[in-house]
Amino acid sequence: MTDPELLRARALTALTAARARTGTLTSSVDDHELTAQHSPLMSPLVWDLAHIGNQEEQWLLRAVAGQDAIRPEIDSLYDAFEHPRAARPTLPLLAPTEARRYAADVRGRALDVLESTPLRGGPLTDAAFAFGMIAQHEQQHDETMLITHQLRSGPAALTAPEPPPGSTEGLPSEVLVPGGPFTMGTSTEPWALDNERPAHHRVVSSFHLDTTPVTCGAYLRFIEDGGYREERWWDPAGWTMVREHDLNAPLFWRREGGQWLRRRFGVTEPVPLDEPVLHVSWYEADAYARWAGRRLPTEAEWEKAARHDPVSGRSRRYPWGDADPTAAHANLGQTHLRPAPAGAYPEGQSPLGIRQLMGDVWEWTSSDFLPYPGFVAFPYREYSEVFFGPGHKVLRGGAFSVDEVACRGTFRNWDLPVRRQIFAGFRTARDDA
Ligand SMILES: [Fe+2]
Repeated sequence: MTDPELLRARALTALTAARARTGTLTSSVDDHELTAQHSPLMSPLVWDLAHIGNQEEQWLLRAVAGQDAIRPEIDSLYDAFEHPRAARPTLPLLAPTEARRYAADVRGRALDVLESTPLRGGPLTDAAFAFGMIAQHEQQHDETMLITHQLRSGPAALTAPEPPPGSTEGLPSEVLVPGGPFTMGTSTEPWALDNERPAHHRVVSSFHLDTTPVTCGAYLRFIEDGGYREERWWDPAGWTMVREHDLNAPLFWRREGGQWLRRRFGVTEPVPLDEPVLHVSWYEADAYARWAGRRLPTEAEWEKAARHDPVSGRSRRYPWGDADPTAAHANLGQTHLRPAPAGAYPEGQSPLGIRQLMGDVWEWTSSDFLPYPGFVAFPYREYSEVFFGPGHKVLRGGAFSVDEVACRGTFRNWDLPVRRQIFAGFRTARDDA
């Protein structure tokens, strides 16, 4: 989609959808909960709310439209690099009513800018890029706020219908992805972020990839086989983490009366065996894969499996083709508050029959977060460049917590290998012997 007027309309839809979700996440708890810190890993929800408005002001009102700052004194409060999450509750943050008013004021002005700005003449306005970037930014904070909801204690504040059923009956457990070159990354997707660019050729050797993400049931066999007690499966830093924190299962799981239970958005329930496992760190995913005699896929392998069409030789936007996602393709957008069972979403499968590459759970890959050849930081170094290096591992494919505007076959997420509160699972691979 490159017609500027279509992109203008799409930006309006994306910004409106993001704000509706922000509203759900911030109106489902009271003001006390909005300003409380539910975990030292997270900001108070009211920080995210005003930060969303502040980023929108900085990019759409100041950078695109050249307007003066509405409240220059608050910029530093909402600078994510100036204040680590744990310190944010001690800042003189805007109170909930004020934060809502500020975000709404910025949004009103931003929609005027969207309506009146020519969508050409510069990299921020071409293809409505800055508007798409800000819609993605808000959705990414909505995902962060959803993690805060998962970490908070107390009864459920959010509800959603159950995801569609799924079954792995009749599906092969793994699929052979043929080796050879493919196009990785993009130079044409209008709202792709800097780290997804540019498109370039990659060669991968033939490999086998799990048809679906690893399920809770499969992961339970690793636990019951003593996986958390055997050093040989673990990366040395992962083994240190297991011992220091006495880990024996994914985050939010506990064993009670011979049964494994998990807490999910304020509800305690039996661990569903057929659902992709969630809330495991990279170290746990890596250890499971080694125990299973397999390995995590590289980022390039994952993208080839998700985008390469063996018939045309072309890389497509999504596993199912170039069409935007629908509810039949993938579990995205907080439509459901959990992954769908393994084998769900047959319409979203890749040409080789690999399922649930998009949505459900983020998938850890074995790769460090690194720039593609020809990478240029845009529009600011802090979006990706400062995170490049061996400290962060790449996650792919999005989760039920991710909106479609921030989910593509090329989209790259990254995090520390110890992170467990994110909506991450994995699938495994092996070389084609
Ligand atoms: Fe942000």
